[in-house]
Amino acid sequence: MSLNGPVAIILAAGQGKRMKSDKAKVLHEVCGRPMIGYVVDAARGAGARTIIVVIGYASDQVLESLHDEPDILFVTQSEQLGTGHAVKICRELLADYQGPVMVLVGDEPLLRPEPLADLLARQEHDGAACLLGTAKVHDPMGFGRILRDSAGRFLRIVEERDCAPEEKAIREVNPSCYVFQLPLLWDALDQIGTSNAQHEYYLTDAPERLMAMGQKVMALNVLRADDILGVNTRQHLAQAATVMQARIQDHWMTEGVTIVDPHNTYIDGRATIGRDTVIHPFTVISGQVKIGAGCQVGPFTHLRDGTVLENDVEVGAFVEISRSHIDSGTIAHHLAYLGNASVGRDVNVGAGTITANFDGSRKNETQIGDRVRIGAGAVMIAPVAIDHDAVIGAGAVITRGKHIKSGDTVVGVPARSLSARTDDR
Ligand code: UD1
Ligand code: CA
Repeated sequence: MSLNGPVAIILAAGQGKRMKSDKAKVLHEVCGRPMIGYVVDAARGAGARTIIVVIGYASDQVLESLHDEPDILFVTQSEQLGTGHAVKICRELLADYQGPVMVLVGDEPLLRPEPLADLLARQEHDGAACLLGTAKVHDPMGFGRILRDSAGRFLRIVEERDCAPEEKAIREVNPSCYVFQLPLLWDALDQIGTSNAQHEYYLTDAPERLMAMGQKVMALNVLRADDILGVNTRQHLAQAATVMQARIQDHWMTEGVTIVDPHNTYIDGRATIGRDTVIHPFTVISGQVKIGAGCQVGPFTHLRDGTVLENDVEVGAFVEISRSHIDSGTIAHHLAYLGNASVGRDVNVGAGTITANFDGSRKNETQIGDRVRIGAGAVMIAPVAIDHDAVIGAGAVITRGKHIKSGDTVVGVPARSLSARTDDR
């Protein structure tokens, strides 16, 4: 099989012991999305046309999360013998491929494509056997350190566990962002042993090996500290989410969205928001949510997966909306739950309105037409349909299967028409 280059290999076979989890580490979510998804995007964004993901621990889960992506291939590492071993087992798949291969790790969700593209371009330009991106960080703990000679030339990478005390003080680190030239890398990996603190095959030994073979290796300081946060613990996961959340909000502010209190707002990476929409404090937007222009959202609003707000919608305190489409100009200012609902234009959803969408086994739809007015405390036991311009009295309970005709007014428990025009479905 001949593969399209450049190729990226993403290492994701490890369990991530320090996460103390039954889930593969790379599937832990940052702002609503598995970490591995961000790394795949960064590799693609940098220009990789084939992506090989090395899977191992909980491999079924990882496969499932990346299924249906035609540019991704998988290699299974059944025993995690180290990062060097993880790359080495891709050899068969890459037997006919000659050219650059970028190697990344799946636990760095904050990687951006730009510095990786830079590395690929530099490698193409001067044909080095290995280019490794480095970063200078305030706290190097956990990273391999970059050793250079007195002239600043790269010497080797030393893992933290194998560092001498003075080496531990080095703040230039190895983020595990490499570009190697194939097939030279295979020769280097053949020479790597396991005489280190963890008795593993370290990929970090490959650059030094290549230099010993007389090949050109360069360490370029192209990455920033917040690109390379490696998630090894739940604390790191929270730190990565904080940085990612700031990036997501920064993006939407640049696009013309007002976020009144960024520290007390949560926006999922998959959400989209139109200009001049204002997000008030304590709003949580989770999952794939689409918000139009000129909306007012919050304070204390929870918008969940599958929700669409068209333009100029206003949703306020303690309003939760899930899998629903809300057309323009509609208002739900206080205390409401709308689930599996389709709500028309300029509807007024009164305080305390509930769509009772779940009957114990399945979720049912509520349809509400344009300009319907719903009084406080109304309950709609889905499936229910309310045609345009109807009026629902305060406290009305619309029972399952009812169809309220346009312009009708219904009141009471169970809701009855004041003009006797409501039919059973
Ligand atoms: C590694 C680097 C270290 C670097 C750091 C950056 C080595 C030896 N060390 O250390 O220099 O600063 O990343 O984040 O490479 N994996 C496999 N198979 C294995 C082992 C690991 O697929 O047999 C995967 C893991 O799932 C993970 C990635 O490789 O996604 C890195 O492994 P991890 O154990 O987190 O390495 P670090 O100790 O962070
Ligand atoms: Ca790591």
